[in-house]
Amino acid sequence: MRAAYLVEPSADHPVEAIRVGDLPAPTAPPGWVHVDVRAGALNMHDIWTLRGVGPRPHGGPHVIGSDAAGVADGREVIVYPVLPTAPNGRTVPHATLLPDAGHGVLAERIAVPAHHLVPKPAGLSWAEAACLPTAWLTAYRMLFTRTTVGPGRVVLVQGAGGGVATAAIGLATAAGATVFVTSRSPAKRDRALALGAAAALDSGDRVPELADVVVETVGPATFGHSVRSTRAGGTIVVCGGTSGFTADLDLTRLFAREITVHGSTMGTLDEFRALVAFVDTHLVRPTVDSTVDLADVRTQADRMLAGTGFGKLCVSLT
Ligand SMILES: NC(=O)c1ccc[n+]([C@@H]2O[C@H](COP(=O)([O-])OP(=O)(O)OC[C@H]3O[C@@H](n4cnc5c(N)ncnc54)[C@H](OP(=O)(O)O)[C@@H]3O)[C@@H](O)[C@H]2O)c1
Repeated sequence: MRAAYLVEPSADHPVEAIRVGDLPAPTAPPGWVHVDVRAGALNMHDIWTLRGVGPRPHGGPHVIGSDAAGVADGREVIVYPVLPTAPNGRTVPHATLLPDAGHGVLAERIAVPAHHLVPKPAGLSWAEAACLPTAWLTAYRMLFTRTTVGPGRVVLVQGAGGGVATAAIGLATAAGATVFVTSRSPAKRDRALALGAAAALDSGDRVPELADVVVETVGPATFGHSVRSTRAGGTIVVCGGTSGFTADLDLTRLFAREITVHGSTMGTLDEFRALVAFVDTHLVRPTVDSTVDLADVRTQADRMLAGTGFGKLCVSLT
């Protein structure tokens, strides 16, 4: 079967570490099922893996990817990507992703625990469905578990073009919130407005109204602005740091405005089911930047590293 995998990570040239070729199909232990993957998507997590950061349970070819949708026993499904129990015994959300446990999903045939399969909404394309497991699940938990978002709430999403960011725009807008976004790119700002954002600002610009909730995925490049843009009693939810992992924090504003900062990581299986139902009910279509054949997965990884995409970078395995 065809798969995207790495043999030797490369800290300096992660994209060149990707191989696409034939690997033996995995066996399915008791309680696991095979899925014939139709589409997948890339995440920053894959770039970190390609750089050699994070666990690799064995020394052989390591299939990358945590986002997949496909067919299992004739059913169209989306794969929940978090193994509920990590080797250290902790449970979600502090668990491990399928690829980190040696079960990456960017392959024609994968094996996953049977209870990880959630029916694919009929209205979603394969690529749209493949957007949901990682970035969209993360955004869902940030908005609806780590804080609350709905009508009357103002949400600021930093770095509008990102996978998590476009998910947050789509979900928060569908929930009835007023959404402001920032982006360095005028073209991405226009696209965010088309997704339903009420205002799209250049990075660092003053927000029209202080936010109840800030979705922070960019890190040090935007974190100061996030703090300045949060209203008294508001919440900043952080799931990553594309621009780095050490940010300055204005403590005066933090305590004077009684701002809460929450970390957030992935989501539970119940949250994944709720996300899929939410997307189906509210007719939210995940934003796909582009879809290429698996053979061209390096193009998508290049685009992710360059930060030029708007939405999810998908691959097709049909
Ligand atoms: N904790 C978790 O469970 C979890 C899950 C998923 C992702 N993450 C993390 O969340 C982060 C975002 O992931 P993603 O998949 O959404 O990434 P992505 O699609 O690559 O998006 C990154 C976005 O960040 C913005 N950006 C990058 N560098 C910037 C800079 N110097 N200044 C301002 N904006 C900058 C860009 O927005 P503009 O070009 O629009 O400005 C870009 O579109 C990553 O760090 C990832 O590892 C964590």
